[in-house]
Amino acid sequence: MKIKYLGHSCFQFELGGKKIIVDPFITGNPANPDDKVDGMEADYIMLTHAHGDHVLDVEAIAAHNPDVELISNFEIITHYKSKGIEGHSLNHGGKFTFDFGTVKYVNAIHSSTFPDNSPGGNPGGFVIWNDEVSFYIAGDTALTTDMKLIPMTCPPLDFAILPVGDYFTMGYEDAVIAADFIRCDMIIGCHFDTFGFIEIDHEKAKDAFKTRGKELILPNVHDVIAIK
Ligand code: NI
Ligand code: MN
Repeated sequence: MKIKYLGHSCFQFELGGKKIIVDPFITGNPANPDDKVDGMEADYIMLTHAHGDHVLDVEAIAAHNPDVELISNFEIITHYKSKGIEGHSLNHGGKFTFDFGTVKYVNAIHSSTFPDNSPGGNPGGFVIWNDEVSFYIAGDTALTTDMKLIPMTCPPLDFAILPVGDYFTMGYEDAVIAADFIRCDMIIGCHFDTFGFIEIDHEKAKDAFKTRGKELILPNVHDVIAIK
């Protein structure tokens, strides 16, 4: 599969013939100021939590994709159902097999309030797998030993998307340990360099992974990463 980085924590990929967008924060991203969501196609939008830097463009994308279905937690799905956008409300530890693969909603240590201060439930991450690929999208999270449960309960991971920017989430030093916990050697970093607080030293971050026998990819906005 190929996965496209749209900045911050937003990724776009096709799986099982379905177009999927994760955590759309495109029009408001200061590192990606010119981007538009008009014409962006999506069958599913996956949301790890309700913060504005993860949900900003949900309604704009849904306006162009009337059949789009959200995948998130109960509170976030309920919030968007009241706006006429349908979705699947997983909760922590639960999984469901969609027409593109199985999705499990797993723990994240963070918070989850909408920009209008309405409650967004508890934050999470996703493990996604089908016959071709298995990967983990951590969402915003601290390092947590709960990550050790992922290789015990899900197929072996081909890659994982972990936050590495520090301040709001774990930094790359903790993400190296997270990669050990999830038994994964190919990590795509996210949630870095978007704002001043989360600018990181790319070489130091990559070296921290290399010395543990792992690879850290720090994509530029619009990079397409080929897996396998
Ligand atoms: Ni957040
Ligand atoms: Mn965030």
